[in-house]
Amino acid sequence: MMASLNPGDEVILPAPYWTSYADIVQICGGVPVSVACTEANGFRLEAAQLEAAITPRTRWIFLNSPSNPSGAAYSAAQLQPLCEVLLRHPKVWVLADDIYEHILYDGLAFATPVAVEPRLRERTLTINGVSKAYAMTGWRVGYGAGPRALIAAMAVVQSQTTSCPSSISQAAAIEALTGPQDIVAERCADFQARRDFVVAALNRAPGLRCRVPEGAFYTFASCAGVLGKRTRAGAVLQSDSDFCRYLLQDFEVAVVPGSVFGLAPYFRISYATSLGQLEEACARIVAACEALE
Ligand SMILES: Cc1ncc(COP(=O)(O)O)c(C=O)c1O
Repeated sequence: MMASLNPGDEVILPAPYWTSYADIVQICGGVPVSVACTEANGFRLEAAQLEAAITPRTRWIFLNSPSNPSGAAYSAAQLQPLCEVLLRHPKVWVLADDIYEHILYDGLAFATPVAVEPRLRERTLTINGVSKAYAMTGWRVGYGAGPRALIAAMAVVQSQTTSCPSSISQAAAIEALTGPQDIVAERCADFQARRDFVVAALNRAPGLRCRVPEGAFYTFASCAGVLGKRTRAGAVLQSDSDFCRYLLQDFEVAVVPGSVFGLAPYFRISYATSLGQLEEACARIVAACEALE
């Protein structure tokens, strides 16, 4: 099958990317090709960057909007130039990870590659699941839509590995997807309030800078301004990992370094927790930055 990976085949991952993508590609024998997206471009891939990254070995590009970890989302107009590049490269397949589809703020409209460019349909796998929109992470139900031959091959792999998600999870997912949907918008409004709180708090911390993410439930803030500074214990922070370790060890706040998502020096906060917890965590982060010399 055209979409399968041969050793050495390349998969383009716009960075920052969900950390599992690189491992998934490697488990399949492929080579992850990280392409750094700039904060100035809202952590979105530019068409020229995509064009430059494509080689004769490129088999797939993974697009994830809204994104884990950056929260960045593409509008239809922002996807269009990427789709135009892909139309010129018919051997490149597209994995559209739409799992944060319903967690999009400020009234932005969700966009996905096949809707923007139907000619990509025969080589796009669009995936989604109930984990994020319905807070059903533990139920292990995801789903995908794509070309018939690809879906058939995926069914072969699944039936010989996990067989299927438990029938209980399948029944719960049907209820989630076909039941009243009011909860989805209500949760999204709660997340937006938490996003606004966390972004404002981070931007008050000396040395940190955080753009306003369009979706998902993460902030991806720069910690470039704290690098080179010294902690009270005398350690000099040299990387985003150092900063995250400092927050964890000295202030008991857990955040994740951007380097594990392929882009440094940044750190990710998940605000899928209560506003009370976030208030406490952000107060500690501000105090941690103020304590640096
Ligand atoms: C971008 C992205 N894709 C997929 C998943 C997988 O979700 P699950 O395995 O819970 O369906 C996650 C979970 O964190 C994610 O962030």
